[in-house]
Amino acid sequence: MKTDEIRQQYLDFFRGHGHAVIPGASLIPENDPTVLFTTAGMHPLVPYLLGEPHPAGRKLCDVQRCIRTQDIDEVGDASHLTFFEMLGNWSLGDCFKEGAIQMSFEFLTSERCLGIPVDMLAVTCFAGDKDAPKDEESARIWEKLGLPRERIGFLPKAMNWWGPAGQTGPCGPDTEMFYWVGEGKPRGNPATHEAEWLEIWNDVFMQYNKTGEGTFEPLKQQNVDTGMGLERAAAVLQGVKSVYETDRMAPILGKALRDPTSEEQLRHARIIADHLKAATFIIADGVKPSNVDQGYILRRIIRRAIRSARQIDNTDLGFCEAIAEEVITQYAAAYPALREHAKDIADTLHQEEIQFSKTLAEGLKRFEKAAADTSKILDGITTFHLYDTYGFPLELTKEMATERGLSVDEAGFKAAFGEHQKLSRAGAEQKFKGGLQDHSGETTKLHTATHLLNAALRKVLGDHVFQKGSNITAERLRFDFSHPDKMTTEQIAEVERLVNEAIRADLPVSYHVTSVEGAKKEGAIGVFDARYGAEVKVYSAGDFSKEICGGPHVARTGMIGTFKILKEESSSAGVRRIKAVISDGPQEIEVAKETAA
Ligand code: ALA
Repeated sequence: MKTDEIRQQYLDFFRGHGHAVIPGASLIPENDPTVLFTTAGMHPLVPYLLGEPHPAGRKLCDVQRCIRTQDIDEVGDASHLTFFEMLGNWSLGDCFKEGAIQMSFEFLTSERCLGIPVDMLAVTCFAGDKDAPKDEESARIWEKLGLPRERIGFLPKAMNWWGPAGQTGPCGPDTEMFYWVGEGKPRGNPATHEAEWLEIWNDVFMQYNKTGEGTFEPLKQQNVDTGMGLERAAAVLQGVKSVYETDRMAPILGKALRDPTSEEQLRHARIIADHLKAATFIIADGVKPSNVDQGYILRRIIRRAIRSARQIDNTDLGFCEAIAEEVITQYAAAYPALREHAKDIADTLHQEEIQFSKTLAEGLKRFEKAAADTSKILDGITTFHLYDTYGFPLELTKEMATERGLSVDEAGFKAAFGEHQKLSRAGAEQKFKGGLQDHSGETTKLHTATHLLNAALRKVLGDHVFQKGSNITAERLRFDFSHPDKMTTEQIAEVERLVNEAIRADLPVSYHVTSVEGAKKEGAIGVFDARYGAEVKVYSAGDFSKEICGGPHVARTGMIGTFKILKEESSSAGVRRIKAVISDGPQEIEVAKETAA
């Protein structure tokens, strides 16, 4: 089934079930300073989910273009995109779990709709915690419809809970629908065989409003918020291995590179296709490249695309426009505004390409100077600076260095890169994701838990472990660190045990201010480079952990509660990722203060 047919069928199906079809909103949210882009179909509907009557009624559906960049490093695999279309439907206090799940099931499996065999589907439901009970009700509805129990998994809040889109607002447990993408016959469910099930649809039961204090109040009305990923649905229905091979994406990928000869080339081509498609839509919604907010994200994705183009030896000025033209060809029928803005899109991309080429010329000068100043090794910070500011891929710098008989400090580059990811996630990306780097009690507890985790990993795995990035919300922490192998079950259990032991010991947490040199001498961990100010804050948790960090943290580790690792997985080459949660901590926390060094 073609992408355009799926889109149309979806709207027709829900119209037939009494939903009003409403237009999708701009990628740039109106009146919402907490996020840079529309990240889900529910986003423009927040006032209505909170109880405001919607002019079109209590049942709605639409197609919403969305941008998400929190997983930008995963773009290029089979299923991640920064730009995607979300097929959404909503009940504003009308039908609830039974109705929503029934409609999802019918749309997925009915021969008149997508006609997916039930055997190929599995679902997950919310496992329950202190804020909301286990969602047995949804599981029973799925079972009644014909899904066997073994295809129904239960997962905690970090996975099966949606919202709020910002720090506060409507949210609730969800039930997610998956398609089998593993080898052979379908096995288990996403809670038991995560990697082999691809999420295609999510029904969120918005019953709660998260308040500024971090509590969950029942909403005036029980809402349903659902979102199906159009590109993923198309991949599944067209029997292709990735979203990039679907009917509308394949021609764009083909323009980026006709015949990739390696996995690496394919990845770069996918990055180019995704990023320039996102850029085309963002420009059509009125954004220009700049160094702040939406303009910064736009600039960054265009430059990332150009960088990938250079990696596959494409140095044509004008290739961005050519790809945008293909995006317009593929999507103008569904999004006529693309055609109206075609000239603006081409001009904007062209100017950005020219400007970036000039930056590259400046970068070359910077390289010449650095190369002249050293006789052997180009240091990691300069190499990273060339990468970050001037868009020089590491490989390019290495090649140029080799030509002069120099080598590059790759470990230093990687350390600087990891630190940059951490900072950028804490900056624009966080705002983008919905202001998640808040300073709420839960986030603060998880932040301190992250330090304990970092220290415990080093104790269990060794001193080669360094933080490569982290992302903390009020619900869970995500921590990336350098380690070559998958952790064993024993190692994971030991790390978890050490963290919980440190929590139970109720260690005092405090910080002192010192120089980078001073921090290094005392054995604090963190990346020591020029990007820190002259003075840094060093946070200690008893004798267990000592880390350069901006804070905030809880005053005693006992305030964290119980620590649990949910997942250990690969993040990228040589980097592992842990997702963990905490529970049972006190509502009220105290924030760690300064002590004398
Ligand atoms: N808002 C829900 C999501 O984005 C449907 O998954």
